[in-house]
Amino acid sequence: MKSSLDYSNKIILAPMVRVGTLPMRLMALSYGADIVYTEEIIDWKLLRAERQINDVLKTVDYVDKTDGCIVFRTCDKEKGKVVLQLGTANAERALLVGRKVQQDIAALDINMGCPKDFSIKGGMGIALLYDLDRAKSILTTLVKHLDIPVTCKIRIMPGIDETIKIVKELETTGISAIAVHGRTKTERPRHPVHADVIREIVKAVGIPVIANGGSQEIHKRSDILKFRDACGAASVMIARAAQWNCSVFRDEGPLPIEEVIHECLRLSVDYDNSPSNTKYCIQMILRDLQETTLGRKFLDSQTLEQICEVWNLGSYCRKKQLEYHNAGIRGRRQACPQSDANPQDENCPSKKIKMLSDEISSDVIEHNISFIRVNYADDKELPKSKLYLYTVKNNIKLPKYEVINKNKLFRAIVKVADGKYSSSFWEKSKKFAEQSAALTCLYHLGIESKEKLIENGSMIG
Ligand code: FNR
Repeated sequence: MKSSLDYSNKIILAPMVRVGTLPMRLMALSYGADIVYTEEIIDWKLLRAERQINDVLKTVDYVDKTDGCIVFRTCDKEKGKVVLQLGTANAERALLVGRKVQQDIAALDINMGCPKDFSIKGGMGIALLYDLDRAKSILTTLVKHLDIPVTCKIRIMPGIDETIKIVKELETTGISAIAVHGRTKTERPRHPVHADVIREIVKAVGIPVIANGGSQEIHKRSDILKFRDACGAASVMIARAAQWNCSVFRDEGPLPIEEVIHECLRLSVDYDNSPSNTKYCIQMILRDLQETTLGRKFLDSQTLEQICEVWNLGSYCRKKQLEYHNAGIRGRRQACPQSDANPQDENCPSKKIKMLSDEISSDVIEHNISFIRVNYADDKELPKSKLYLYTVKNNIKLPKYEVINKNKLFRAIVKVADGKYSSSFWEKSKKFAEQSAALTCLYHLGIESKEKLIENGSMIG
């Protein structure tokens, strides 16, 4: 049986690339949004991802096994409220994705408004409004075969008649609602939003219209409602105002951004969000404040723990990461770079590892050892520091590192005396790769014991 989602009177977090990840969505819900959209996710990314239950975080993860990246992470707290926005130009691919993810989302939205080159060249985003047959075939296919509501998000066209004609055509596909960003393809966010055009669309169609584009004038919840009413729309969707201060959804008025940053960090730690994504979201909140002393300290930070430290949440982060690590989070060890020969082949990772391992010469000593940051409270204990001291003490040549970079994954080989050492795992940063190579060397030299490495999760026995 088909599920439904009530699109009347709802305040919605808009889809935003890099911003609409799990911490931001949960924050929006806790501050008063009713429905939250994911960032736009391109169809092939979800097709190639593997659905995994994450028992440690209590999340469902769609993991790209070629680089270990989380393509989509969701949890019970947003069940029935999360809408996944898909970037697609192909009905069959969209349906495969829809079937794969529908158990984890409340609705599927197709992006038909993105004016970026990347989208248009791929026939996605606003290109679909200029290829209505394709747009309709995607929506019709999804509406017919999925058990969840299907919607789309569009921009307006330069002429009002043209816009209404398109929306009416899209309505015939059976979609449950339509989100309208009241700007044309060439208009920029600073240009005024055409609330009058949205109002005309509302009059012309029978499905709920979700008004979008009002952030410039939105500073508090009552402004959100004012924009919705100016458009006469069933619901309203907010992007930038939420990106700047997600507590804009609160009934009681927005909170100071320090509180919002705290909440963002807490959720990022709780849901093991990537440091780069967390950093980006906070940059969007800080905006001009990045120029302050605190802002610069923040910009210098790299790990989640370092980012948290700027707002005095370092020990919370450490404690939580240790807890997760002890509970068995092992995700990144699965990552291996995609083979250039067959980039879509996801069926034989072992083959890929083999091929890439061949680039590491046979005289390199390899062990299944990975560097786990949380094991090292004191920087002096870091494998690279320890190995450095070992060479100094024993009067041998200092360690020399060589790094291999493949599709944004790294392996390092460290040369010490006459030996060359490397971890067999691919890491997501050059620094981690060097640390795991150093750790492999320390193990081989008998400085780190197998028991200790197995106990702290660095080594798979
Ligand atoms: C966006 N927008 C957007 N739209 C979309 O359909 N899919 C997406 O992934 C994104 N990504 C995105 C990222 C960022 C950082 C911003 C600021 C915007 C557009 C967004 O959803 C919305 O349509 C516009 O920003 C207008 O609404 P506001 O900002 O006036 O509320």
